[in-house]
Amino acid sequence: MLDVKKIQNVDLDYLTHVIKSGKYDEEIFKTADEIRRKYVGEEVHLRAIIEFSNICTQHCLYCGLRADNKNLQRYRMSPEEIIERARLIAKLGIKTIVLQSGEDPYYTTEIISHLITEIKKLDVAITLSIGERGFEEYRIWKELGADRYLMRHETAAPELYAKLHPNDSFENRKAHLYELKRLGYETGAGFMVGLPGQTAYDLALDLAFLKELDADMIGIGPFIPNPDTPLKDAKGGDLQTTLRMIALARIVVPTANIPATTALGSINPFGRQYGLKYGANVIMPNLTPNPYRPNYSLYPGKICLFERDTACVECTKQMIRSVGLVVGEGYGYRKKTEMSE
Ligand code: SAM
Ligand code: SF4
Ligand code: FES
Repeated sequence: MLDVKKIQNVDLDYLTHVIKSGKYDEEIFKTADEIRRKYVGEEVHLRAIIEFSNICTQHCLYCGLRADNKNLQRYRMSPEEIIERARLIAKLGIKTIVLQSGEDPYYTTEIISHLITEIKKLDVAITLSIGERGFEEYRIWKELGADRYLMRHETAAPELYAKLHPNDSFENRKAHLYELKRLGYETGAGFMVGLPGQTAYDLALDLAFLKELDADMIGIGPFIPNPDTPLKDAKGGDLQTTLRMIALARIVVPTANIPATTALGSINPFGRQYGLKYGANVIMPNLTPNPYRPNYSLYPGKICLFERDTACVECTKQMIRSVGLVVGEGYGYRKKTEMSE
């Protein structure tokens, strides 16, 4: 029988065993679903994402946006285009806007500040996901009204982290995440499943880190090899292990907001629906305008690239209802602990 207490106490040996074995999945999924219902309820929050630039100065080995990839048509949306898009999203009734990009220095402190000031006028929550920036910038943007910051820790195994990120370290990534927390952002971490060389123990470390940080948001998706990156011949993550990790994350951090990720939906047509059944409570419709959308190409097979402009909004709402859950109408901040015992 599954020992839920050991999981919640992040007993690394036990977690490694459970992750490796795969034999406990039925119990893990059932427990995660119960915990999701008890701590965050039936609402699934929509987060509209605008991928506003695919230009990146970083070299993350897994990512199609890495600076060295020459097989990608690069784009930047102008601040006006981004704000216009945010207006449309607000009109559609979505209460969170995620601004995501590569690490692109074109968007200075001032430009991001301007975006925050204008978009906050629309009565929405703002999530930034623009990579590692200066601590002073994080402070300024928080004061201007940015609510959340998404920056996955990618892997909590320091050696693997170093291999995947030339010029960066897990220690440094951790320092950024702790600073974001300290400044009062709802802070999102998370990781990829199926990275080359990643072990069950490494995945246990990922869960322990989420608990240690007390991550407010947890993004977990399969690693999908991109042919235009150095990891093109790697195997990539599978559906079952990714779902297992999402469910375990729900058990370890019961009140976190956990998306059923786009990458999960990209390796299986029902991946996101399974995610919602096994612990996830967030979904991120893609609102990046055309002609840019297909060029935010992190990995092959990414879904939603050729849909009608705002189609993902209705599609995700339908998906939520199809698994018996309810479309959230508020800002979807992390639940405080009243729902727990
Ligand atoms: N540049 C920002 C950053 O790195 O935080 C935000 C954008 S980045 C493209 C968003 C996430 O995409 C990363 O945190 C990473 O986990 C994920 N990602 C990148 N390449 C991927 C791949 N080949 N397969 C699956 N996920 C990938
Ligand atoms: Fe750039 Fe983010 Fe991709 Fe790394 S994961 S190459 S920082 S876009
Ligand atoms: Fe994008 Fe279904 S969520 S088309």
